[in-house]
Amino acid sequence: MAEPRIASIVRYPVKGLPGVVAEGDVALRPGSGLRWDRSHAIENGRVRVESPAAWNSREAYFHVARYEEIVRFGVALDAAEGDAPVLTLTAPDGRSASAPVDEATDHAFAVTALLRGALDAGPAGPVRLIRTGVAGLWDWPDAHLSFINLATVAALEGEAGATVDPRRFRGNVLLEGLPAWGELDLLGRRVRVGDAVLEFFQPTDRCRATTIDPVAGVSNLNVPALLASRYGHMYCGVYARVVSGGTVRAGDALEVVGDTEVLEDTTSTPSILDGEPGWPRTGRVVEREQSGARSVSYWVADPTGLLGDARPGQHLRVHLAGEDAPNWRSYTISATAPGRARITVRRDGRISSAMHERLERGDPLVITGPFGDVTLDRADERDVVLVSAGSGITPTAAMLRGLADARSSRRVRVLHVERTAADLALWEEVAESCSRLADASLGLHLTRAAATAAPDASYVDARTGRPTARDVLATIEGLDPAAVDAFVCGPALFTAEVRSALTGAGVPARHVHAEVFYSPTTAELTAPREPSTTGPHRVRAGTAETQWRPRSGSILDAMEGVGQDWPSGCRVGACGTCVRGLRSGTVEYLVDPLVPPPVGSVLVCCSAPTSDVELDA
Ligand code: FES
Repeated sequence: MAEPRIASIVRYPVKGLPGVVAEGDVALRPGSGLRWDRSHAIENGRVRVESPAAWNSREAYFHVARYEEIVRFGVALDAAEGDAPVLTLTAPDGRSASAPVDEATDHAFAVTALLRGALDAGPAGPVRLIRTGVAGLWDWPDAHLSFINLATVAALEGEAGATVDPRRFRGNVLLEGLPAWGELDLLGRRVRVGDAVLEFFQPTDRCRATTIDPVAGVSNLNVPALLASRYGHMYCGVYARVVSGGTVRAGDALEVVGDTEVLEDTTSTPSILDGEPGWPRTGRVVEREQSGARSVSYWVADPTGLLGDARPGQHLRVHLAGEDAPNWRSYTISATAPGRARITVRRDGRISSAMHERLERGDPLVITGPFGDVTLDRADERDVVLVSAGSGITPTAAMLRGLADARSSRRVRVLHVERTAADLALWEEVAESCSRLADASLGLHLTRAAATAAPDASYVDARTGRPTARDVLATIEGLDPAAVDAFVCGPALFTAEVRSALTGAGVPARHVHAEVFYSPTTAELTAPREPSTTGPHRVRAGTAETQWRPRSGSILDAMEGVGQDWPSGCRVGACGTCVRGLRSGTVEYLVDPLVPPPVGSVLVCCSAPTSDVELDA
């Protein structure tokens, strides 16, 4: 790993407002972030804060994702390392007020008057500055340090074709000296910096707050969509916690002194060892082997262990460092073992070719996953039909292995299509799994070679040429079509033809499964559009109801305004978390969704009603 250094240190005395660069030595204490970082917040009057000293949800306070105009305030903090620094706030109209930080609460009348003159009161009361009793008012109860790699921001800037101000990411520590995305390699590591020791435990997911220009206070660049489309995840930056206190300053180098083996989960926030599938993390290639003439299998060790528990049919994403964006691709997991998973990569396309050329045993590899719901339910008793073509053999191999290992008594029929016998990947393994099953048949079509070239095995029915619909139907001969679960993996046209043949023969459409990978796309990165109607439109979900007007924002904003706590993530149409059934009415998107939601549903974070609407409760 290149040697990263601290470029600068920033604290944010008031949640949501701009940061203040820390000069000179900065003290770090175990279990805390920077002193006076997120130590204050502005209560928004929408949700009354009964106990300011306790941690409260950000919905009670002004925060950038929702109140972008607050970044136009100015903030100064004198003598931050002393015991009684003075906080000065400057409103967008130029008026200022100051108070010692310990007194800068609603009792600091000048500051309160300044805020009340600049920000609207909420239904529960006027705005007020509060001093929190917690170590720092983050979006969760624990206080940490957030790190931003300036090289990653530069890479984003290149992809966006526009200036990306690092202040969008509100990091405490800006790093230099790492390659783009090199910060992900810090996850799970224990690092000495200055005379403090930190643990890097979680990547930082990004939401609408990063779409806000940190000076102008307007949403003008869809950073989550940029991340998701070009890099295949929505994370930028990493969090660390202080495990051994000390002093740090700009220019200090970071030195890795340990890794996940010594990581201890000392807070309620998950450590890298308890990661989530969506977290990008650095795995390691522990085995590489050729599989057929055009495929290579890679076993990848996962520091979270999540990939080792992947279900047959799930996939992972590879995010190839050093490759031009979009630098990611999904691969079905072809086998698992404790703490690791195998992918089998055919040389087709830019990312697969780059892996073949330079990914060797021992190399690091940024991964996310496992993902996917098209999986084999081992508890089910339906007959199984697996139809695949080319590299589509990977889910077939994983499912067969799963069935064989479970000593399944289900009837299994396999049909695979390949160009030549030499191109067959994982074939011996597929045949071996079939041979361990009580009632299985294995069919093979070679499209560019005579069937006589097929591997010699008594249970292989080999044919020459593309399979016809009749060939597909032959696989379910003797089975009750209504009791079949079919899994199809191959090119889109092949998948459509097989699906049509099977459903035409009576296999229920809901039991013909085909995974659709989310692939790199170009995305709309500019500012949200203005709503085309002025309303008001009634928005109802169950018993909750509100009148939407343009100033209400998105449907999600409007419903949150009447107390609905709906799931959301990026809030700009990039993650799909906010999808909700649309029962009646019409909507329009103010930001085009990166992945369109299913028919009959809507992403409420980035849409507005164009008539009265009713949504699922
Ligand atoms: S919250 Fe991410 S798409 Fe709506």
